[in-house]
Amino acid sequence: MTADPPRYFERHVFVCTNVREPGHKRGCCAEKGSVALRDYMKAKCKELGLGGRTVRVNNAGCLDRCELGPNLVIYPEGVWYTYKSEADLDEIIRVHLIEGGRVARLMLQPQDVLPRDRENRLAGAAAAS
Ligand code: FES
Repeated sequence: MTADPPRYFERHVFVCTNVREPGHKRGCCAEKGSVALRDYMKAKCKELGLGGRTVRVNNAGCLDRCELGPNLVIYPEGVWYTYKSEADLDEIIRVHLIEGGRVARLMLQPQDVLPRDRENRLAGAAAAS
């Protein structure tokens, strides 16, 4: 088998900016502010020297986890985050993209399908600690 070539970008951040008609039962990331927040993240990464081939912030269509959005996923790790604000994105940039850590409070797990799944999981983790 032929080996994979080296990665072109160190990391790829796919930010869902999908738009659905108002009132759609699944909602969409765009109605929760993802377009402006994507712009913020893209600019912030450049400002911090994470441009070029270090980090690429791209628009993504629907990532199929709409109810949990707005969502983004970072590759090659395949780590998903939900976020609400520029402060959340600042934390993801600093902790994940710069320091190589994880922002546990914003991460999505595979079993998170609806917001209540995530809330229950986080409540369970808090109760266990
Ligand atoms: S609209 Fe963003 S995940 Fe579906």
